[in-house]
Amino acid sequence: MAGAALSAGTLLATDVQAEDGDRSGSLSKGDAAILRFLAAAEILETDLWVQYNELGGIQDSEVPGGSGSGPYTDALVALDGDMPQYIHDNTEDEHTHFRFINAYLASKGADTVNLDAFRTLPGSTATGSSRKPRLTNLMQLTVDTSFYTRYRSRTKNPDLDPNFKFPPAVPSLSSGQFPAIPRNDADLTPHDHIQAIANTAAFHFAFIEGGGTSLYPSLAQRVTNVQVLRILLSIGPTETAHFQIWHDKAGAAVSAPIAPLTDPKNPTLMFPDLNSPPFGGENFQTNLIMPEPCPFLSRKFRVCSIIRPTKTEGLQWEQSRRLPRTGFSSANRRSSLKCCAIWQPTRMQHAGNVSQSNFQLPDYCRAADWQKSRTRGLKSPL
Ligand SMILES: [Fe+2]
Repeated sequence: MAGAALSAGTLLATDVQAEDGDRSGSLSKGDAAILRFLAAAEILETDLWVQYNELGGIQDSEVPGGSGSGPYTDALVALDGDMPQYIHDNTEDEHTHFRFINAYLASKGADTVNLDAFRTLPGSTATGSSRKPRLTNLMQLTVDTSFYTRYRSRTKNPDLDPNFKFPPAVPSLSSGQFPAIPRNDADLTPHDHIQAIANTAAFHFAFIEGGGTSLYPSLAQRVTNVQVLRILLSIGPTETAHFQIWHDKAGAAVSAPIAPLTDPKNPTLMFPDLNSPPFGGENFQTNLIMPEPCPFLSRKFRVCSIIRPTKTEGLQWEQSRRLPRTGFSSANRRSSLKCCAIWQPTRMQHAGNVSQSNFQLPDYCRAADWQKSRTRGLKSPL
């Protein structure tokens, strides 16, 4: 990845390649690698949010592209009247995150991230889409909705209970591939079908931002430079702000009068009413969106309301497991190998037995750089 020239905060679409270099400039190799990892994640987030905004958000000079889909927007608005504004603002935020991180890397003489070479996936052809090639595929999503019960549990914490399976709020979203945007105009009817698509999007919104909510505080524990730490501590909580909004909107998809709802074009997709028996109670009631207190660090301490997970050892972050399911890695084999490798450092932390020779890593974030980024005194997972 050559150091891409940046002007006025705009990432130039240069023909940079992942194997070109890994200059860290005046940053430590570890800090630069973490920032590049985050820039890559933010570029992917931006790509999917742009697709949502083109069809269901507000298209304007801040977030240009697309012209909106009336039926899709109506289905999103059925969840909350402010959905188009929220989608717009989340999209703009992600743009600023990756542009800032890349500009900061460039200012320190470090290499930046550009994934334009991987923008090869066809997107929606529904009226309102810009039909640009994409990095992520929102038309064949498998969405892990276990964040819903993870944040409601008073007794389990993924950092302390890595083998506990938090039950998904919408089990069918975990066991199939579903569109979160209309794939074409045939998806705009009947009403309950486009509503099921909007409901899928609502849970995907929360899933994505919940991932960022854990990712930033986790990586913040590994940086060494105070200014880099400030970047992570300042961007991370905006992901949490997004997550909290989307957690609430997802609840509308599993509440009356929207729920229960079965997709008439795919009856395997069903959104239950989580406020009615056999659901309801602390684990499912839809307005319980504040994080419930849970065990933290050790069960010898009192429970505490916290972000979870944040542990950086022995833990497989959900991004590394779930992001490929967005379709990002299915563009083509060459792209797949490189792009999946971006996430390998998190897998390596989980595997705990990785040596450099086991992987052909790209230069975004080499294992050695991550090893150097370990906070002093932190037990090595590798
Ligand atoms: Fe972000």
